[in-house]
Amino acid sequence: MSESDRVAGPPGEVPVTGIGTAEASPRVRNTKGSYLATKLAYNIGRLHGLRLRLYLYRRIGMKVGKGCVIRRGVYLGSPNELEVGEGSFVGRASLYCTGGVKIGRNVNVSDGAVIITAKHDVNSPIFEAKYEPITIGDWAWIATNTIVLAGVTIGEGAVVAAGAVVTKDVPAYSVVGGNPAKVIGERKRQPFDYVPGSYRPPFL
Ligand SMILES: CC(C)(COP(=O)(O)OP(=O)(O)OC[C@H]1O[C@@H](n2cnc3c(N)ncnc32)[C@H](O)[C@@H]1OP(=O)(O)O)[C@@H](O)C(=O)NCCC(=O)NCCS
Repeated sequence: MSESDRVAGPPGEVPVTGIGTAEASPRVRNTKGSYLATKLAYNIGRLHGLRLRLYLYRRIGMKVGKGCVIRRGVYLGSPNELEVGEGSFVGRASLYCTGGVKIGRNVNVSDGAVIITAKHDVNSPIFEAKYEPITIGDWAWIATNTIVLAGVTIGEGAVVAAGAVVTKDVPAYSVVGGNPAKVIGERKRQPFDYVPGSYRPPFL
């Protein structure tokens, strides 16, 4: 990095650099394998035919249970770090999985949801990249246009209401909404009689 790339900070502070360079930024979990899997998943995600897509996703290291739908047009970063349990539905969402994403059984991830395990340390002089895993419990519903941030665990049966930004763990069977998401309701605990992955809209 040349001196001209440096941006002077306040006197006495470490100079702020541009976006971390390859040698400076410790991208702990991003590997050549995950970059390749991301690239392949981008193309797989545009193919017609759910069964074909699932076959190819599994070939590139994604763990997908039986009876799942991963909808055409989804964005999957580091799909080799993604696990989706039986009967779950993932719509046209964006999942950045470098830090590890574990989705339970019979989960519904609606169109427009963003699940992101990556962040930057804003006080790091090298804008250090950090990755923290996200876990989503069985029967949870991640509604449309929500954002689930790094390190969060969503409890079993919980509902993340449309537009919520989830910054902290969500208790089981609670309904959370808003930015930052807060508990706005409870979901009845009962034996559920639906399988999100059995929903097959046309042109999947
Ligand atoms: C979770 C959800 C279903 C709640 O809907 P609901 O049970 O009909 O709730 P209500 O409209 O009766 O609202 C109850 C309260 O929660 C609030 N609320 C409802 N949705 C909210 C949201 N997304 N964010 C914040 N607050 C919300 C309401 O303002 C109301 O507050 P009040 O009691 O102070 O008036 C709805 O918010 C939602 O997220 N829909 C998702 C749509 C979607 O993703 N569709 C894709 C289908 S796969």
